[in-house]
Amino acid sequence: MPKQNKQTLKSCAGALAILLFLILLTLAPFAGYTHDGAQGNVAARMSAMKMMGKAVKSLALMFRKSEPFDRAAVKFNALAIGSHGGTALLELFPKGSRSEVSEAKPEIWQDWNSFAEEAMRLSESAADLAKAVDDGKSKSESRKIFESLTRSCSACHKAFRQKQ
Ligand code: HEC
Repeated sequence: MPKQNKQTLKSCAGALAILLFLILLTLAPFAGYTHDGAQGNVAARMSAMKMMGKAVKSLALMFRKSEPFDRAAVKFNALAIGSHGGTALLELFPKGSRSEVSEAKPEIWQDWNSFAEEAMRLSESAADLAKAVDDGKSKSESRKIFESLTRSCSACHKAFRQKQ
């Protein structure tokens, strides 16, 4: 092979390597993205909220539909919701943690006390529900607590979440 051709081949390979490197560099920031580009606290609270959504759904099947009333399942879901409420929820909303994909309203940090109250109310209802089934309360009594729990989801969303 003539020397000049070899030289061209070498610089071609070099350029290709640089190109590959640049492509990887551009893609790197996307590696940590989970939910439509959400990262860090935003991604963490979205997945916590989704878990609560699932728990509420299976409770609703028992309380509002015809799934059998299963105390152990009610307790399990109530505890799951409780573990994502209260201070655990608040920790996922550090000041100013908003991003383009976040549905968190700025009012959260302007009216932190009300936001915190909603978070606490949620974990209290969840604890009340777990206790109700432990104490052998009836399905209709437990249902009342479940309905007030779901009201606390929607009250907080109404005030502090903007649907995108
Ligand atoms: C203290 C306030 C508060 C409470 C209580 C609350 N949420 Fe949320 N929720 C939010 C906020 C704020 C967002 C938007 C978060 C973001 O996008 O950064 C949200 C988002 C969500 C989402 C969308 C998640 C996603 O993937 O974008 C679901 C689902 C959800 N909440 C379910 C629930 C359920 C179910 C409950 C009750 C069991 C609940 N939430 C209680 C404040 C709350």
